[in-house]
Amino acid sequence: MKSLKTNLDSNAVYLPSDTVQKKAYISSLDAYLKMYHTSIEDPIEFWKKISAQFFWKSKPTGPFLSYNFDLKKGPIFTKWMEGALTNVCYNLVDRHVQDGYGDKIAYYWEGNEPDEQKQITYQALLKEICKCANVLKALGIAKGDRVAIYMPTTIEAIVVMLSCARIGAIHTVIFTGFSADALATRIIAAKAKLLVTANGTFRGTKFIPLKSIATQALIQCKAANHPLNDCIVFNRLQTMKRREGIPDIPWDDSIDRSWETLMASASDVCEPEWMDAEDPLFILYTSGSTGKPKGVLHTSGGYLLYAATAFKYAFDYHPEDLFFCSGDLGWITGHTFNVYGALACKTTSVLFDGIPTYPDGGRFWDLIDRYKVTTFYTAPTALRTLMQLEPIYVTKYSRASLRILGSVGEPIDPSTWNWFYEIVGEKRCPIIDTFWQTETGAPIICPLPGATPLKPGAATLPFWGIVPTIVNDNGVEIIGEGQGHLVVKNPWPGIARTLDGSHERFTSTYFAPYNGYYYTGDRAKRDADGYFWIIGRTDDMLNSSGYLISTAEIESALMQHPSVAEAAAVSAPHATKGESIHCFIVLKHKWSYNHIIESEIKSIVRHKLGAFAVPDLIYPVPALPKVGSGKIMRRLLRKIVRQEVYLGDTSTLVDQSIVNQLRALTLNKVKIF
Ligand code: PRX
Repeated sequence: MKSLKTNLDSNAVYLPSDTVQKKAYISSLDAYLKMYHTSIEDPIEFWKKISAQFFWKSKPTGPFLSYNFDLKKGPIFTKWMEGALTNVCYNLVDRHVQDGYGDKIAYYWEGNEPDEQKQITYQALLKEICKCANVLKALGIAKGDRVAIYMPTTIEAIVVMLSCARIGAIHTVIFTGFSADALATRIIAAKAKLLVTANGTFRGTKFIPLKSIATQALIQCKAANHPLNDCIVFNRLQTMKRREGIPDIPWDDSIDRSWETLMASASDVCEPEWMDAEDPLFILYTSGSTGKPKGVLHTSGGYLLYAATAFKYAFDYHPEDLFFCSGDLGWITGHTFNVYGALACKTTSVLFDGIPTYPDGGRFWDLIDRYKVTTFYTAPTALRTLMQLEPIYVTKYSRASLRILGSVGEPIDPSTWNWFYEIVGEKRCPIIDTFWQTETGAPIICPLPGATPLKPGAATLPFWGIVPTIVNDNGVEIIGEGQGHLVVKNPWPGIARTLDGSHERFTSTYFAPYNGYYYTGDRAKRDADGYFWIIGRTDDMLNSSGYLISTAEIESALMQHPSVAEAAAVSAPHATKGESIHCFIVLKHKWSYNHIIESEIKSIVRHKLGAFAVPDLIYPVPALPKVGSGKIMRRLLRKIVRQEVYLGDTSTLVDQSIVNQLRALTLNKVKIF
């Protein structure tokens, strides 16, 4: 790790820029290594020091850390600071108000329409949270109860999340792209006593009938013997000028309650409930390979420490910074970086309830200029959409305020990395590629601005307290350079404690595959410098002619053709090769597919990866099937190329109609080998 080469392959090494370095908390690789080693040699001392920066009503009653990752020794568990009392909401808001920062802006919020704006200070946020906490209490919600939140990315949604944290209720935020079925499944699984939603919202020009969906979901809940007494409805449409396509909103006085009415009469004072550090804070559902969603459960003290610390160092956050994370509140990115990590660090953030291409492809860059954003964090899928547009959408904005750029959610291929680095950041902003999961709470592998030399496409080095390694199929650790299953050897404060309602599934998913380790489910390679490169989910690997190939590697090569906007690679069984390679591509505007393009694409793949990786079939398609977070549902593509009739659960797809289009487009071309 200490001897960084600078001539690696095509992967140039980008050294930290002087301007970022001068300001950075950690301003050299040596400084990073020193602090990293401290964090893994004595994690208890390391995290104790960090915990001293937060408010605790009382100290841990037992050990600061206790855990077991070894199935042979008994049940798997991790506990940090058990017995210590705190309140996460108090640490996020009250603490800053008491320290004299009540007038600092917590959020600049902007809606789907650029003329829809709001802002809120820490002091005002505290009052709103207290009012909402009193509303929840009046509806009978108490410590330990579960509250489902199905709301767009708004200040009000954050108020509900934090009012739950204030009274010790456990929130579960459900992404607003989910259907009524998916919403009902999650409400029932979480045993939620209350649903908070909005009457509707727009994404671009498309109306999203949130209340109608919620009503359908509640009918399903009732049918499944899980009736809810109350559904609070925030009038999101009240301030919207756009009215086209808004249908009648269903309303049932016996269950529906108006947010505005309830909030108007609630007191803005509410004492926080003092919670054990190991009391649950929230449950967040993430997809599982079996199709049944997993309710990832995070607890209070450890998650607070880890989210705040990751926020501070991964984004080198300073009080004058303006942070913008484009992630939806329905995903862990929104939880950790739009809410918990950001507020814990007294941050001013931009909260955006729109899409990057509305009213045009310059929306992100426009927001960045108007709010003077210093730190912009987004997903490769959004970048790939924007990359295919005319460069003027980016270049007509100055982006001069930007200091740091971040990426999350999937491997960022070098073409996209370079576009982000060169065009968006004009080579002055480091790209912080953060590898993490709903289960890890915050990034576990990522560069630090000002310290870590970057390589396009590498998640780089572990964060404080994380000891990642790679193991082969037999669970044997691979030392030095190599490729295998990415696992973590030790507990960190932000690790999920269980899957709600099924500790057995938690154990079998994350600890049984390689006893003694937390298993990420991802493959990774470690290069000669000790850098980690995330290859992709284990289920995204394919094996053709005996070569184990990552779909991400093929996709990254496909993306290098100038016509390709998006790409997905999957496999189908093949009589001689084991698996054949099927690639779906979405072309950029103004390109049309022909044999020349096809042979050029194949030749790029041959050139980048070798003949073994050349696609057997390429399908130019209008769009890829994606879930709300923007992730491509490769599982579905795999079934389509295998001509399977049963596609499994597709309820999380943003656009259901794409399934039949893809079936039709592939049908003529697919040969069953
Ligand atoms: O496969 C990895 C990919 O996203 C998975 C986790 O998904 P989720 O729980 O929805 O959380 C996403 C936001 C943190 C991982 O197992 N992933 C996430 N970040 C990266 C990534 N793959 C490569 N590089 C990343 N930076």
